[in-house]
Amino acid sequence: NYLGLDLGTSSLKALLIGDDQRVIASASVPLTVERPHFGWSEQDPQSWIAACETALGELSDTHGAELAAVAGIGLSGHMHGATLLGADDAVLRPCILWNDTRSHEEAAELDDEEARAITGNIVFPGFTAPKIVWVARNEPDVFAGLRRVLLPKDYLRLWLTGEAVSEMSDAAGTAWLDTGARDWSARMLEKTGLTRGHMPRLVEGTAVSGGLRPELAARFGMQEGTVVAGGGGDNAASACGVGVAEPGTGFLSLGTSGVLFTASAGYEPAPETALHTFCHAIPGLWHQMGVTLSAAGSVEWLSKLLKEEPAALTGALGETVQAPGRLTFLPYLSGERTPHNDSEIRGVFAGLEADTDREAMTRAVLEGVAFSMRDCLEAGGEAARPQRLIAVGAGSRSAYWLQLLANVLDTEIALPEAGDFGAAFGAARLGLCAATGDDPKAVMTEPPIARRFRPDNAHGRAFDDAYLFYRRLYPALRAAMA
Ligand code: XUL
Repeated sequence: NYLGLDLGTSSLKALLIGDDQRVIASASVPLTVERPHFGWSEQDPQSWIAACETALGELSDTHGAELAAVAGIGLSGHMHGATLLGADDAVLRPCILWNDTRSHEEAAELDDEEARAITGNIVFPGFTAPKIVWVARNEPDVFAGLRRVLLPKDYLRLWLTGEAVSEMSDAAGTAWLDTGARDWSARMLEKTGLTRGHMPRLVEGTAVSGGLRPELAARFGMQEGTVVAGGGGDNAASACGVGVAEPGTGFLSLGTSGVLFTASAGYEPAPETALHTFCHAIPGLWHQMGVTLSAAGSVEWLSKLLKEEPAALTGALGETVQAPGRLTFLPYLSGERTPHNDSEIRGVFAGLEADTDREAMTRAVLEGVAFSMRDCLEAGGEAARPQRLIAVGAGSRSAYWLQLLANVLDTEIALPEAGDFGAAFGAARLGLCAATGDDPKAVMTEPPIARRFRPDNAHGRAFDDAYLFYRRLYPALRAAMA
């Protein structure tokens, strides 16, 4: 059997699968986020370990025999977080998370031609490196004691195995990685006052990173030294979960944020588009990723405002996509990454009328997010356009939205049958690869597809025209804010 551990922002999930990849059991433990100041977002690394202890304890109580048969563990986690460790790997301060924007000035300073050439990416405020510059400036005592920086899931690995190791997909989100070379960049480390000595060793996501510590094995009734795989950042691990393991395949995640992820055979950076170009968790592959910060999050916002469940709001639209209305929504509720890299911009409804009702607002929100995903798709250019996208996340429950997305993106959207194909499943698959040495492409197959949404031409160019109008609103809004 194999175990996937996904350290999410709001919960830690442990998923146990069989040798045949069938899900045996799972346990999920909630986590909290601290927001002590505007723009801050932190977590106590100790809470990750406590959550992992609870989840493993639960699995060992309910599925002891199956847990004892685990031969490989894979890790996944929220990316970009800065876990700062001092002497004896003691935690120096709460982890600064991916959605913490305090270091936006430091990010802008680091984001020069050289940084983009080395890392293949804009240095975004959420990335790890600018956070360390912020700490050096604002918490000099912490910086003075700093011996090691680990990404969140890699801190969990340190506890599980005693080894300080990271892997390529998560490391690519730090702004310290030479993403093409799949190695730390001495120059980028130097720019933030660090050296290679502060960094963990690097392995591929499918490789062995260490073995389970005897003490933990005894406590949870597992095998001593059980292989722990490199694993992946949550998006790369999700890709492994839904079988995005071949160049030209991709997935569309409609979670709180929206992600358009495509796998590529080579390193093809395009930082000017604000796409992320990261290593895949599978050796020899990279991926590009466009991120819109409020996708299903925009629907949740509207749902709270109108006091109606998201499923009721979208369900009221039926399944037949209507032509775009006169109301346009920009989904920048928490700023935007792709294509604008603008943490200050905020959303708008443009074109409200005396008889605008909740259906018109719901349609505009779904259309606005779809247009924002089209921005992510166009940023990748025609060559990177995947043949079809597998839909995941809470938003994929709306058939109206998926058909709308198929039309707006002019790409087939495939909806998997209900099941567990997320980051924890992908992590378990990475654990399987590390333990068996099996070919990742053979292991990471697509889930069974329940329904396919193919682009239809019912509304001719109407959505193209609506998209062009949408595109004109951002510069106007930006100019008005200046
Ligand atoms: C990716 C990103 C998020 C986090 C949290 O760039 O910021 O997907 O990994 O889930």
